Amino acid sequence: MIPTVLSIAGSDPDGGAGIQVDLKTFSALGVYGMTVITSVTAQNTMELKGIHDVPADMIKAQIEVLVNDIKINAVKTGMLRTKEIIEVVAGEIEKQKFPLVVDPVMVTKSGAALIEEDAKNALIDNLFPLAKIVTPNSFEAETISGIRIKTIDDAKHAAKKIAEYGSKAVLIKGGHAFSEKEALDLLYLDDEFKFFKSERINTRTTHGVGCSFSSAIAAELAKGRSIENAVRNAKNFIKKAIRFGFNIGCGFGPVNPMAHLYNKAERYNVIKNLKKAVSMLEDHKEFSALIPETQTNIAMALPFADSIMDVAAIPGRIVRIGKSVKASSYPEFGASSHLAKTVLTANKYDSSIRAGLNIKYSEKILKACKKLGWVVSFYDRRKEPAKIKKTEGMSISWGTEQAIKKAGKVPDVIYHKGDWGKEPMITLLGENAIEVANMAIELTKIINIVP
Ligand SMILES: Nc1ncnc2c1ncn2[C@@H]1O[C@H](COP(=O)(O)OP(=O)(O)OP(=O)(O)O)[C@@H](O)[C@H]1O
Ligand SMILES: [Mg+2]
Repeated sequence: MIPTVLSIAGSDPDGGAGIQVDLKTFSALGVYGMTVITSVTAQNTMELKGIHDVPADMIKAQIEVLVNDIKINAVKTGMLRTKEIIEVVAGEIEKQKFPLVVDPVMVTKSGAALIEEDAKNALIDNLFPLAKIVTPNSFEAETISGIRIKTIDDAKHAAKKIAEYGSKAVLIKGGHAFSEKEALDLLYLDDEFKFFKSERINTRTTHGVGCSFSSAIAAELAKGRSIENAVRNAKNFIKKAIRFGFNIGCGFGPVNPMAHLYNKAERYNVIKNLKKAVSMLEDHKEFSALIPETQTNIAMALPFADSIMDVAAIPGRIVRIGKSVKASSYPEFGASSHLAKTVLTANKYDSSIRAGLNIKYSEKILKACKKLGWVVSFYDRRKEPAKIKKTEGMSISWGTEQAIKKAGKVPDVIYHKGDWGKEPMITLLGENAIEVANMAIELTKIINIVP
């Protein structure tokens, strides 16, 4: 049976937050989503223009029909604007035994109030005692606890204070606080503190982040995960949703909860594309002339890739044996580090570029690339700043970025002339593995006619 999750929250017509993003999150995480709408808002990515509360008896009726019919595995509450709404929702939830996530939503990203002043205490008194976990952001945590949060110690005090209102766990989210470099969340559970960290992404695509995050926690709880594991999985999930948010609207662009699912769906296609590309190269003996000393690899990324685990390549690379070409094994995700980083960096600048192939460096090959009309750019490894050289794994991303900036776009070809102990190299870039394999094959055809 598919786990079922209910979101009791407001409607956001731009689809980025509220029940709209909750449903996307539930689908992306493989649970069956349901909704009880508490308020209809008129908002976009910039501002909130109006709110129409659904009458409390209609909210009650929506919950009643669901619980009378469907077994619900977890519930999440979001926007509950008035005392009356909160009391009705708490009254219905009290009768049931499902794990409850309370997201104590108070203001929108654009700063508009989503709860009446006199309803805040009702939320704390009526719903917190029923909750498995409450998920305030740092501002909400300040309001609820009355403690000003500047440091992690302040957050710890606030979390303990909030826990006194009766929820099993408290998660204070650090999307707006604590650290410029990290997005750090603090979980208080069973008298212990746990931290969940991720790199802070510099972006404006954070509309709906809090809604999607609390829905992801509810979805994971519905699957039977522990509170700690549910938060960990939700944190991984939300990272991708933020990183690949939609640049639509003029304000804060919506997060993209589907990024996670689209990646899953594309894994087979990426492997299939790579297999075809590899067999094209193996069948084309002349390609052996383009294989460098350190052998070659071909890589292709998922559509929403942000780590080398999202990039597939050939473990053990593609090798030259005499005059023939042979892949050491079948493609796998996470099988390349250097080439994967080149592809990931290129993809950050141009999302259509998802594949790369390393070939031997020579003046002649470069001339052939130019003759084919390809955009060629380069970087100089000897100019790499010492700080970057020292940081493990940064060199390739730095170099690729240099080459992209020089060309003013992601070029078709990036080369470097090597450094002490580093073989010079050319990388062909394209939309998919078959495309870059074809580029290599085209090169072999004209290489001998270039002067
Ligand atoms: N720029 C960012 N980079 C990485 N993670 C982020 C970023 N902003 C928020 N997060 C993470 O997203 C989750 C939601 O946190 P946040 O504190 O932004 O919630 P919120 O303020 O309730 O959001 P909303 O305004 O949508 O209600 C947390 O796990 C937080 O650490
Ligand atoms: Mg929020």
